[in-house]
Amino acid sequence: MIKKFIFGKPIKTDAVVKDVEVFSNSELSFLNEKETDDAISFEYDLDVDDIVYGLGEVMGSINKRGGRYISFNTDTPNHTPTTPSLYATHNFLVIDGKKKFGIFLDNPGRIIFEVDYNNSKKLSIRCENKNFNLYLIDDCDSSYSITKEFLSIIGQSFIPPLWAFGFGQSRWGYRKKKDFDNVVKGYEKKNLPLDYICMDIDYMNGFRDFTINEKRFPNFKNYVKSLKDKNIHLVPIIDAGVKIDDKYSTYLEGVKNNYFCTNLEGENFNATVWPGPTHFPDFFKEDTRAWFGQKYKFLTDYGIEGFWNDMNEPSIFHSEYTAKFSKKKAITKDEKYFLDGKYCEYKTFFHNIDGNTVCHYDVHNVYGYFMTRAASEQLDKILDKRFLLFSRSSYIGAHRYAGIWTGDNKSTWFHLKQNVMMMPSLNMCGFLYSGADTGGFLGRCSRELLLRWLAFSLFTPLFRDHTALLTKHQECYKFKGEKDFQAILSLRYRLLPYIYSEFVKAVLNSDMYIKPLAFEYDDVNVRKIDDQLLVGDSIMVAPIVEKGKAERNVYLPEDMIEVKYDGCDFKLNKVEKGNHILNANLNEVVFFIRKGKLIPISKGGKNTAEVDFNNLELLGDGDQYLQYIDDGYTKDVKKENIRVLKKE
Ligand code: GLC
Repeated sequence: MIKKFIFGKPIKTDAVVKDVEVFSNSELSFLNEKETDDAISFEYDLDVDDIVYGLGEVMGSINKRGGRYISFNTDTPNHTPTTPSLYATHNFLVIDGKKKFGIFLDNPGRIIFEVDYNNSKKLSIRCENKNFNLYLIDDCDSSYSITKEFLSIIGQSFIPPLWAFGFGQSRWGYRKKKDFDNVVKGYEKKNLPLDYICMDIDYMNGFRDFTINEKRFPNFKNYVKSLKDKNIHLVPIIDAGVKIDDKYSTYLEGVKNNYFCTNLEGENFNATVWPGPTHFPDFFKEDTRAWFGQKYKFLTDYGIEGFWNDMNEPSIFHSEYTAKFSKKKAITKDEKYFLDGKYCEYKTFFHNIDGNTVCHYDVHNVYGYFMTRAASEQLDKILDKRFLLFSRSSYIGAHRYAGIWTGDNKSTWFHLKQNVMMMPSLNMCGFLYSGADTGGFLGRCSRELLLRWLAFSLFTPLFRDHTALLTKHQECYKFKGEKDFQAILSLRYRLLPYIYSEFVKAVLNSDMYIKPLAFEYDDVNVRKIDDQLLVGDSIMVAPIVEKGKAERNVYLPEDMIEVKYDGCDFKLNKVEKGNHILNANLNEVVFFIRKGKLIPISKGGKNTAEVDFNNLELLGDGDQYLQYIDDGYTKDVKKENIRVLKKE
């Protein structure tokens, strides 16, 4: 049962799309609500064995106990185990104990969650913005059913085209056509698959959105076409800030039509990001959204079909106010308010929401969501087929419009493990098309780390190798011993019919694509496992996430079939329920097929277009597999596109 509770006068976030019955707030007494001048708080006593799932893009394990998490979208380059905020806000959590319930706080303001923090045995939630909707899901027998109920009220997740399920290469630092040619050649020469290359900020003219540097990309339309003829897509980045420049049409249009956020004086707010001084579009206004979204047509006219939206927390390097206030010796009480904490800039600009002026700070967490929504809504009108879009910042609701990547991680084993642990939480919040920067964004990626990371990421829908400016090159072809890379990458393409089918079925059924084991198995032993995951309905993975290791412990909650793939053969081995050790060399991937299930295997290909979805081998001991199949582009994604594959 889902119940809605209203606090104050919430703004419309459209996170929830189904009507939910409103109940009296007195029914929430078990959450011990307290209101003070500056917050509404809740507190709940946790039992020793209660597990707390959820919160999407946050650091830590699948079980959120022991952590302090702050919903406040932040551009942070340093993700440590205790980093409280990342780029997204996903305020859905499930408490799994004697009492089982889910809560979603549809609140765009800053929230502090403490979950058995410092062994307090309490779940405490402090909402700074006192105007919000709270949804409670109870009367369900499991965390999994609570999550499915939740997914059913927030609407269907974004589905990109088939090519977006291929492997993508990215690097901040590709500047000119030749850099992209080299990537294509590098992958071709080493016989490695590739479906898309991301274009980072240097393709633009001075980091101006919706421009192309024609000197560095002469005849861009032909170039886009020539790559598409090879089944390779270019995916340009779009940043949230619009450069202030009197000769730049996007800027001039924005000023003329009052599309930008305003400052304390009522003028357009000025903040510095990659292009230097910029204005931020006020994505809370429908006309701004329509305008900005239509701007993507500049690139679709060149044949572009995929984008990534960045810096949309929004990220601010510094603003007109930080500079002004920090120069002053005596700071007034009012100025102190703005300078308090490092989020001061967010208190100095404003949105126009339905005619009312609203401080950005109070609605900060939906800004990136509304940018991505602007893009997605218009791309849907501009293109007659599905497109790729993924965003750095997000909020629940954004999952209907785009996928996400998890931001600026590092080339460390810790970040690989973190990627594994975060995936189910993202899926709980509707972000099925998601993944991390494979190989790590900051730092130096070793060959071993990249191979192990690829061996995990090949199971995640967004499968992209991305790294930062000035880091060591991290393209697969840059490393010695291409055979190992061929072996790992080829598995993605051999599993593509399974991955695509399981992804779309999960979307159509308001389900998760990646789940914790405990969501399927009623087995005390799996409640603490956070480094093994269920991928789709038939596969369990147990990735190797430690340096120098070719083996690891794995727990099987039922008899399964172990599959070892080395680039050619699938070696199958029946394994009994219980504890085992798995071995996988750097050129091998080991995964498991669940009891009574099947997986379809293709012959693979150099890109998704080459994969034959019809001639499939079925592995496993099940009787039939329900395969979702379409042309990879249609917007008409429906359950009728499912066919039954039977074992002969
Ligand atoms: C941000 C993004 C990163 C990108 C960089 C340059 O740090 O998170 O992916 O490469 O900006 O655009």
